[in-house]
Amino acid sequence: MLSKKIEEALNKQVTIEAESSQVYLAMASYAENLGFEGVSQFMYAHSDEEREHMLKLIKFINERGGHAIVSQLSAPPTEFGSFKDMFQNLFNHEVMVSKTINDLVDVSLQEKDYATHNFLQWYVSEQIEEEALARNILDKINLIGDDKGGFYLFDNDIKQLITKPTPPQV
Ligand code: FEO
Repeated sequence: MLSKKIEEALNKQVTIEAESSQVYLAMASYAENLGFEGVSQFMYAHSDEEREHMLKLIKFINERGGHAIVSQLSAPPTEFGSFKDMFQNLFNHEVMVSKTINDLVDVSLQEKDYATHNFLQWYVSEQIEEEALARNILDKINLIGDDKGGFYLFDNDIKQLITKPTPPQV
């Protein structure tokens, strides 16, 4: 059984994951409008992944006797500037999410909720991967600089970095 404090903290994370999914969906649409198919596919897939992160939390909260809440979301921006700006934005967003996951791990320890602590380890590892991926992409963009041909190749190459979301399991 979840304590009220943990339930509320997990529900806050549900909203953060849902908003992450919205932000990446907005980035996908932005890139698609600019004609960058690879980047937009990457962002659509990333948005789906965030939805899976949200679903995994919802199922966990409900299975542990809590009530997962689907809340109102804030609207993401519609423009994201250059690709460098957009991927920097993605990286900063993931760093923020890692911080909220760490805070959640802290709460689980304070509450001596070891089942939630154990559940959250998946998110801790996932955040390491997501930050590394964003950093890797930013490095590539920095190498390209202002080379238009380089961006064409980058748009093609990024398709290889698209990961299939793992189905939610609790
Ligand atoms: Fe669900 Fe990218 O953090």
